[in-house]
Amino acid sequence: DWSPKSFIQHQIEEIKRVAGDSTVVCGISGGVDSTVAAVLVSKAIGDKLHCVFVDNGLLRKDEATKVMEFLKPLGLKVTLADASDLFLGRLKGVASPEKKRKIIGRTFIRVFEENIHDEKFLVQGTLYPDVIESVSVKGPSETIKSHHNVGGLPKRMKLKLIEPLRELFKDEVRAVGRELGIAEDILMRHPFPGPGLAVRVLGSLTKERLDVLREADQIFIDELKESGLYQKVWQAFSVLLPVQSVGVMGDKRTYENVLALRAVESTDGMTADWAHLPHDFLSKVSNRIINEVRGINRVAYDISSKPPATIEWE
Ligand code: XMP
Repeated sequence: DWSPKSFIQHQIEEIKRVAGDSTVVCGISGGVDSTVAAVLVSKAIGDKLHCVFVDNGLLRKDEATKVMEFLKPLGLKVTLADASDLFLGRLKGVASPEKKRKIIGRTFIRVFEENIHDEKFLVQGTLYPDVIESVSVKGPSETIKSHHNVGGLPKRMKLKLIEPLRELFKDEVRAVGRELGIAEDILMRHPFPGPGLAVRVLGSLTKERLDVLREADQIFIDELKESGLYQKVWQAFSVLLPVQSVGVMGDKRTYENVLALRAVESTDGMTADWAHLPHDFLSKVSNRIINEVRGINRVAYDISSKPPATIEWE
């Protein structure tokens, strides 16, 4: 019978056995999965684990600083690789979602490679639903989406995988994290896609558009936390559309961006219902965004479920 405690004990033994005296590297994203995986491995092999956190310039507002801050007390050895300019330079003018994903995946590998030394193993926070979504897609034509966190690293890197969470669902990962003493606000963070805000700024990416999205999303997330709704939804975020629409501001006509708010309820991300957030809550968020974020004059709320929609818009 499964319990977080016995799972941890078993995994620690297993990781020790597999890794032996080798050093191990872990790409850490600030998300629940990679954090729990890294802490678990560090319990087994201590400072033979080296973590790399890549700032791809596609993170939420102040995310890199916040993540480095909350990782500190967890006793992990973390290198922060700031590669924002490299990523944004390569993504300039690219609008196609699959192209964005490919560039981000490739650039991530390059930056990651530059930050590893003689490690023999790679820790990944792959969960059971990631495994399922990846094996259920057959050829490239049937690929739902190129998930870059499953099987994403090139063979030439010769790293063997350690995926201690491979059989777990998100709620089990959170339970394991709790048992490992990881703080609740880290464990209850919403999932965040590897390609980051690149899939939430639709169309061509610019630093300016990313910043507009960051400001708006910060307001949405702050309000969700403030009203106790953040932990009631699986995931919530904002999407900047490549569409402008007419509005009025004072006695002037405006022609600005449309922002979509997305919040869903789910247990594993494979299916999802749109979250029925209270109207007065949505109204407050919308007013704040339109008044406080320059460049947005209209806010829409996404009421599609998955399937047939997906959670992200891309
Ligand atoms: P979709 O949009 O496919 O998303 O319904 C399902 C869940 O997966 C997240 N997502 C990703 N996570 N790398 C990730 O680590 C990715 O490339 C990726 N694409 C989507 C999404 O945020 C949602 O939680």
